[in-house]
Amino acid sequence: MRSPKFIGILGSGAREHAIAWKLNKDLEGQDIEFGFYPGNAYLKTWGTCYQDFESMMTAAASPKFSDRLILTGSEAYAGLSDSWRRKTGWIIWGPTLEAAQLEWSKDYSKQWMKAQHIPTAECYGVANSIEEIESISKKIKAPFVVKYDGLVGGKGVAIVETPKAAQQFYIKVAKLAGDAFTKKFILEEKLTGVERSLFLFVDTKGNVQPGPLSMDFKLKYDNDIGPNTGGMGAFTPAPGDPDLASLVASISAGLKKSGLMYSGVLYVGIMMTQQGPKVLEFNVRLGDPEAQTFLPALTTSFYDVIIQSNAGELTEPLLAKSRTVWGGIVCATQDYAETPTKQKDPIGSDWFEGAPYQIFFSGSLGEQSGQFEARSGRIATLVYSFDQNAPESVLLETEGKAIEWVEKHGWKHIYLRKDLAKNYLIQKKEFT
Ligand code: AMP
Ligand code: GLY
Repeated sequence: MRSPKFIGILGSGAREHAIAWKLNKDLEGQDIEFGFYPGNAYLKTWGTCYQDFESMMTAAASPKFSDRLILTGSEAYAGLSDSWRRKTGWIIWGPTLEAAQLEWSKDYSKQWMKAQHIPTAECYGVANSIEEIESISKKIKAPFVVKYDGLVGGKGVAIVETPKAAQQFYIKVAKLAGDAFTKKFILEEKLTGVERSLFLFVDTKGNVQPGPLSMDFKLKYDNDIGPNTGGMGAFTPAPGDPDLASLVASISAGLKKSGLMYSGVLYVGIMMTQQGPKVLEFNVRLGDPEAQTFLPALTTSFYDVIIQSNAGELTEPLLAKSRTVWGGIVCATQDYAETPTKQKDPIGSDWFEGAPYQIFFSGSLGEQSGQFEARSGRIATLVYSFDQNAPESVLLETEGKAIEWVEKHGWKHIYLRKDLAKNYLIQKKEFT
């Protein structure tokens, strides 16, 4: 018998569940052992959830494994994965520390975009103090965007109307960032349009291949109102088929020129403006909840893509285009993205066994004495599919049935958006 493969996945969300699910599908029939750090209550049923990164890597080093693949996901592990890559020669799929700057430094990524002639929002200036924020913002047209140059848990961007609001944002970020506060902000033009998430697979020679285009929904309530969230739902492919070839070519040329090659994903946040697609931001990971629809929609083997990416062989386009669209509905608790109430609602076993949908579980899923429970946050993404050419009523009905299933089997304080299919259809009309 062949020895098992070790697949280690960093992260704790429904995205990581989807990654494990897709790799498991791609490697059907092979012996795989999954490890997660930190993982979540459900992922314990898929493999071992380790207490720290070192323990996962020690387990991976066991001679019983034929080969090892570690997916580092977020930019936060870039430094660690560089050193493990050098030490072990294993496939450690994720950004290098240098490439991770594209995500964590807004100033770096803005300058990088300019140098590669990548269309993006105009930068009005870089401020290193609250006084500089005030002085730049007094000279520019409102509304404008203020972005913190550093990591602050996804709360580093604000669209503001006045210099005072820009200063208040500075104070808020300073509190959130604590000792790590960089004092640096960039101020830029506010773009309008619909957003898209483009995931580019990047290889170690700077070749890139796009996957199907995704979209997500960031605001908590129907009709795009309420607090910003990590994402309430997603579709892949998103409506419309914009020509992104020249953007993708500029990015690939830029990565090669500036030596930012790595094996992993480059997430390009795009605004579809009247002047064409413009880049809002880069991340060096898959998006959540986009991944929960992107990976099911990826008709290619994700495992093969990873191997080619590591070998510098991503030279051929990936996709056989499919007419199937995947929709994801994030099922959260009512207090999600607002004041947490510390509730613990038991969740019925039908979510875990025999559900008529693919369901990916998140980090806020808890477990107590063998009983799963919903604890303040995003609990799961439920995924369904439909034919791109089906009449509108089919999509609305498919979503309606999924919502009905969720509500029938849901936990006590469940919350989900119910207007995602409607929004998809509005955008579909706009783009055709
Ligand atoms: P970022 O972290 O740079 O992606 O920003 C997070 C979110 O802020 C984006 O997904 C957009 O919704 C919004 N955003 C960022 N930059 C701009 C911009 N220049 N104009 C309008 N919205 C923006
Ligand atoms: N869906 C947005 C993100 O993952 O950042």
